[in-house]
Amino acid sequence: MAVLFATHVLLLILSTATTLHFSASKAARLNMTCSEKERNALLSFKHGLADPSNRLSSFMEINLDTPVGSPYRELSGEISPSLLGLKYLNHLDLSSNYFVLTPTPSFLGSLESLRYLDLSLNNLNWISRLSSLEYLDLSGSDLHKQGNWLQVLSALPSLSELHLESCQIDNLGPPKGKTNFTHLQVLDLSNNNLNQQIPSWLFNLSKTLVQLDLHSNLLQGEIPQIISSLQNIKNLDLQNNQLSGPLPDSLGQLKHLKVLDLSNNTFTCPIPSPFANLSSLRTLNLAHNRLNGTIPKSFEFLKNLQVLNLGANSLTGDVPVTLGTLSNLVTLDLSSNLLEGSIKESNFVKLFTLKELRLSWTNLFLSVNSGWAPPFQLEYVLLSSFGIGPKFPEWLKRQSSVKVLTMSKAGIADLVPSWFWNWTLQIEFLDLSNNLLSGDLSNIFLNSSVIILSSNLFKGRLPSVSANVEVLNVANNSISGTISPFLCGKPNATNKLSVLDFSNNVLSDDLGHCWVHWQALVHVNLGSNNLSGEIPNSMGYLSQLESLLLDDNRFSGYIPSTLQNCSTMKFIDMGNNQLSDTIPDWMWEMQYDRNVINPSQYLMVLRLRSNNFNGSITQNMCQLSCLIVLDLGNKSLSGSIPNCLDDMKTMAGEDDFFANPSSYSYGSDFSYNHYKETLALVPKKDELEYKDNLILVRMIDLSSNKLSGAIPSEISKLSALRFLNLSRNHLSGEIPNDMGKMKLLESLDLSLNNISGQIPQSLSDLSFLSFLNLSYHNLSGRIPTSTQLQSFEELSYTGNPELCGPPVTKNCTNKEWLRESASVGHGDGNFFGTSEFYIGMGVGFAAGFWGFCSVVFFNRTWRRAYFHYLDHLRDLIYVMIV
Ligand SMILES: *[C@@H]1O[C@H](CO)[C@@H](O)[C@H](O)[C@H]1NC(C)=O
Ligand SMILES: *[C@@H]1O[C@H](CO)[C@@H](O)[C@H](O)[C@H]1NC(C)=O
Ligand SMILES: *[C@@H]1O[C@H](CO)[C@@H](O)[C@H](O)[C@H]1NC(C)=O
Ligand SMILES: *[C@@H]1O[C@H](CO)[C@@H](O)[C@H](O)[C@H]1NC(C)=O
Ligand SMILES: *[C@@H]1O[C@H](CO)[C@@H](O)[C@H](O)[C@H]1NC(C)=O
Ligand SMILES: *[C@@H]1O[C@H](CO)[C@@H](O)[C@H](O)[C@H]1NC(C)=O
Ligand SMILES: *[C@@H]1O[C@H](CO)[C@@H](O)[C@H](O)[C@H]1NC(C)=O
Ligand SMILES: *[C@@H]1O[C@H](CO)[C@@H](O)[C@H](O)[C@H]1NC(C)=O
Ligand SMILES: *[C@@H]1O[C@H](CO)[C@@H](O)[C@H](O)[C@H]1NC(C)=O
Ligand SMILES: *[C@@H]1O[C@H](CO)[C@@H](O)[C@H](O)[C@H]1NC(C)=O
Repeated sequence: MAVLFATHVLLLILSTATTLHFSASKAARLNMTCSEKERNALLSFKHGLADPSNRLSSFMEINLDTPVGSPYRELSGEISPSLLGLKYLNHLDLSSNYFVLTPTPSFLGSLESLRYLDLSLNNLNWISRLSSLEYLDLSGSDLHKQGNWLQVLSALPSLSELHLESCQIDNLGPPKGKTNFTHLQVLDLSNNNLNQQIPSWLFNLSKTLVQLDLHSNLLQGEIPQIISSLQNIKNLDLQNNQLSGPLPDSLGQLKHLKVLDLSNNTFTCPIPSPFANLSSLRTLNLAHNRLNGTIPKSFEFLKNLQVLNLGANSLTGDVPVTLGTLSNLVTLDLSSNLLEGSIKESNFVKLFTLKELRLSWTNLFLSVNSGWAPPFQLEYVLLSSFGIGPKFPEWLKRQSSVKVLTMSKAGIADLVPSWFWNWTLQIEFLDLSNNLLSGDLSNIFLNSSVIILSSNLFKGRLPSVSANVEVLNVANNSISGTISPFLCGKPNATNKLSVLDFSNNVLSDDLGHCWVHWQALVHVNLGSNNLSGEIPNSMGYLSQLESLLLDDNRFSGYIPSTLQNCSTMKFIDMGNNQLSDTIPDWMWEMQYDRNVINPSQYLMVLRLRSNNFNGSITQNMCQLSCLIVLDLGNKSLSGSIPNCLDDMKTMAGEDDFFANPSSYSYGSDFSYNHYKETLALVPKKDELEYKDNLILVRMIDLSSNKLSGAIPSEISKLSALRFLNLSRNHLSGEIPNDMGKMKLLESLDLSLNNISGQIPQSLSDLSFLSFLNLSYHNLSGRIPTSTQLQSFEELSYTGNPELCGPPVTKNCTNKEWLRESASVGHGDGNFFGTSEFYIGMGVGFAAGFWGFCSVVFFNRTWRRAYFHYLDHLRDLIYVMIV
């Protein structure tokens, strides 16, 4: 008995991957007669192995449940021929251990009755002797260089399951000669590097194939019509490839298909109507393709369908009423399509088992009676950017299993009914943003992990929340009163709140002193309220804080030194307040230590504009080498601009080591929630909201101070800078000659200083410049010729009486022409040729750029997205439907 059990244990523990290979029936087969000989064989096998975690010390005491990522180290060493003693062994699973050092245990080939072998990460040839092998799992082995694997394996006539997942196979050439896969039922080639068309010989391989798994490869081209020869196939998984073209009608002949997953490819066609013949189908996933046309009405024949996912395509037309008869449907996902028209009660009549309803991002609207009693109990209700309103959907009241509800931008203009807040207590994720919902939040209690009520008409005081709440976003409403009762209400709870966004309300008074109870906070946005008083010392307890946005309030006093403890801070926005004193020195040190491998501290945004700070900007500022936004405008700073600006590596286009500046994903199983920082910036003339594109912004604004001295020439090293505003200071000297090297500059405002000299010729290289203000200086000479510099209105140059040449009206004298030609043409006097050369360069560069990057940089919608993030105004949570 002990050995019987030991055999069982051994097989299990040798697989540090999941133990799924080991089915109950196979375990039963092990329960055979066993002798002393076999016991010795096992022990001897054990002695041949290095067992650093001592997992084999006693076969009896080993924990069978060895999760992936467990601290156990892999077994390695020699596989002893003693296994030959186990002559009835028919299931051996050694996957994900490390036997590579050992020469191929060729003796395994003499275990004639072995029927189940899982020996990943090993090599191959000896396998061909295991002629009774039925199950072979080589997943994770590197077969990239084993060109003959197909030949070797095709000599196993009994093989019924072959798993070759993640084997780095990049080519499935046709087999040389005849294959013997007459019993093959399962073929898994997923997660390889197959970079070719689906080879048609695959469909000839075995008449018995039941499961073909090719997902997550690089397969291209169309699915061949001949796929219909897989007459017994039940599970066909081709997702995550690059397959394209139309879907073959012949797929409709695979009448045993239960699972058909073609998602995440680039199929461009209507859904073939023969799909309606797939009457055994349980899962049909065609999401993330480019399917067009309408949803076939004949889908009503797919009576066994449980999952219908057509999301993220270009389907048009209405949702056929006949879908409402699919009485086994559990998931219906039609989100992100061009579907339009109304969805009525009849679309749902028989959907008794529906649990997931995903209709977001369509042009559909729901048209049901107020007393509608749906036949289903939903768990996932995703109806954002979908027409529900103007009335609040009363039918939700009887849905008692909902876990996720999103109704953002659903056109609801109504008072939230009194039952609703109690109803939400059990919901995990709630998003009602961007509607015209009204109601008083003063006395409600919220318990969901994620609560997004932003951009509505809610009023009253702040709601109270349970310790479960992780995200609370009530931005952009009319909530009033003070924050203290909210913060101080539950002093001993272990609050999980990570994201708190109360921005754009009418909150007043000070911030209270209870921040100590909210130490999980990562993002705090209190911008645009009527808050006043000092920034409390207790904010220093927020040791995980990454963003602190207090802009547009009436805070006064100084920045408390306790904030130094927030050592993961990345975003600070305290603009437009009445803070005074100097900018504390420690702020310039919120910078990562170059000796730390994964630095968590690197200030990216420092925005203190429009306060009452005084003093000067010290050289220390340049330590903030990860800054993407430095906005110290409109204050009383004096002194000169430090000449170390080139140390700001991110602005200089070096050191972009961070991938995502600030994101917060909620939970692990919800892929549709993602937090992104929003910032209101004034890159040119107007204030704009930046969210998704914040990562692309590089901005320095030191305008409206009392800065003096020259613009340091180091500034021209900031080749990634896009927006530079130094206007309204007392700067003197000349414009640095090399500023044309700031190739990405889109906006340059130097107006209202005392800068003199000529406009450097290099400025004509700034191909992206779309805003320029050089007015009111003592600039003189000719404006350099380029497509860019002449495209601005004269206003950009006014107040410089000595400037000449287009676009200003003053004509240049001969002397000025010559002066320019001398500087441009390096004194050769041939100014016509030279300036044409420069013009040509400008146009040529612009044209080249247009061709090369037009999709990204000049695409109209992208441009609009980049500059006008007003659409999702202050909507901090980004909902993505998958
Ligand atoms: C193995 O055999 C024993 C005794 O014959 C029996 O009690 C046990 O249920 C069997 N185990 C399996 C998995 O069949
Ligand atoms: C296929 O299997 C038969 C026995 O079942 C054997 O005779 C033949 O050689 C095998 N063919 C190949 C190509 O291995
Ligand atoms: C499939 O097999 C048939 C006969 O078995 C053969 O005629 C045909 O050429 C094969 N097709 C491919 C693509 O290998
Ligand atoms: C689509 O497939 C690609 C690989 O081909 C993968 O990188 C990507 O994450 C997949 N996208 C989705 C939405 O599954
Ligand atoms: C289903 O298959 C039958 C023949 O097997 C065919 O006549 C019919 O047109 C098919 N249905 C659709 C919707 O293609
Ligand atoms: C679907 O898209 C393809 C390729 O763009 C186009 O040729 C075809 O006409 C479209 N079909 C429908 C029904 O819109
Ligand atoms: C909410 O539930 C509580 C207890 O479950 C109950 O006392 C209260 O009346 C309910 N409120 C509303 C508005 O239904
Ligand atoms: C709050 O939510 C948790 C689960 O997140 C749940 O267990 C608990 O019952 C809820 N509280 C109330 C009062 O409904
Ligand atoms: C709550 O916390 C305060 C201060 O941390 C402590 O004095 C008080 O005893 C705590 N109350 C309870 C009920 O634990
Ligand atoms: C500038 O020169 C053009 C001709 O080259 C002439 O028509 C124009 O009147 C001149 N403008 C001024 C302000 O002298």
